[in-house]
Amino acid sequence: MRYAAAVHPGDPYIKASLRAFGETIFAEMSALAVRTGAINLGQGFPDTDGPSEVAEAAINAIRNGHNQYPPGPGILPLRQAVAQHQLDFYNLVYDPGTEVLITAGATEAIAASLLALCEPGDEVITFEPYYDSYAATIAMAQAKRRVITLRPPAPGNGGGDYTFDPQDLRNAVGPRTKAILLNSPHNPTGKVFTNEELQLVADLCIEHDLIAVTDEVYEHLVFSGTHIPLATLDGMRERTIVISSAGKTFSFTGWKIGWICAPPALLNAARTAKQFLTYVNGAPFQHAIVTALGLGPDYYRGFHDDMAAKRTLLCTGLEEAGFPTFWPAGTYFVTTDIRPFGTNDGKAFCLGLPEACGVVAVPNVVFYDNEEAGSHLIRFTFCKQDHVLNGAIERLKTLRQ
Ligand SMILES: Cc1ncc(COP(=O)(O)O)c(C=O)c1O
Repeated sequence: MRYAAAVHPGDPYIKASLRAFGETIFAEMSALAVRTGAINLGQGFPDTDGPSEVAEAAINAIRNGHNQYPPGPGILPLRQAVAQHQLDFYNLVYDPGTEVLITAGATEAIAASLLALCEPGDEVITFEPYYDSYAATIAMAQAKRRVITLRPPAPGNGGGDYTFDPQDLRNAVGPRTKAILLNSPHNPTGKVFTNEELQLVADLCIEHDLIAVTDEVYEHLVFSGTHIPLATLDGMRERTIVISSAGKTFSFTGWKIGWICAPPALLNAARTAKQFLTYVNGAPFQHAIVTALGLGPDYYRGFHDDMAAKRTLLCTGLEEAGFPTFWPAGTYFVTTDIRPFGTNDGKAFCLGLPEACGVVAVPNVVFYDNEEAGSHLIRFTFCKQDHVLNGAIERLKTLRQ
């Protein structure tokens, strides 16, 4: 990511390897939304809270005195609930005692994993566009990123999913490759990796003795296809660090409760780094997420169906506004092509959008190394109330005039 607007050139304090990262694009665009009063479809956070009984559980946890440091790996009931979740949904068995770690969101889980695994100069393979913390975290781990470009399908509902060239992935593996960092369902493209694609990743991991780090924070938001955890493929559980988070699934992104499931040696590696990043986090919220994970199948179905309807609403609206739209297979993001508006500079387009029509979106180019692959693409989120999405659509429709 080279979107470094908030870093002053020649800043004397930021070390060279971090200088390119500046302020995250989300902070920058959300600040722009506040400054201009624009509708913020940039950053992926819902504008309504998650289930009230979960919020109540957090309040009760505070009232009941769960306000000091929780145990290092996280409270046992939450580790048990996470293990139960993996068993219920994927038939993956993890021991809550030695194979589950609670983290400060998925972000810390990714950082702890890569900081623990990588020696300086090791390489981490990931797919671009990539979630913005990946590049910075790989840099902080003094590792190098190798990226595989995902190419958009035909636009429109049923246009298919983003794809990559399997040979690109094979070619990316070298003597210093340590890990493959895989995000599925994938932000920002909405891609859900197929069984065949996952098998290729698994084959390479096994052949070259690589660790897989899987970011599955959108596991419950799949609209076409199926979410298959890489760890369920033969030979992968023992070499995979599975990461997820309560933020997206239960709409409490600010609580930052995430987790890792991994075999003991890998979990221990991540825990070693985590204990010196935050030590522990979110004691009362850990109790509340035990309640959340106990909500049962109706909750997940309702959440999914609600987001599916919003996906249709926003994608249809974007098409009516003139954007070729890549309907996402998963996540709560949708990518569109801006070229019908006479430009392929997504960054300039997004910076001008609040003034042009009062809407904030994110330029996908900031998630690419290979800028020309993503310069014409921008991302909107649909995890907002219907009236907000409708308002944004009406505003975007004025762009063509
Ligand atoms: C792909 C991906 N991974 C990780 C995260 C961060 O998750 P958390 O808020 O649990 O740290 C996000 C948040 O947007 C994301 O999109």
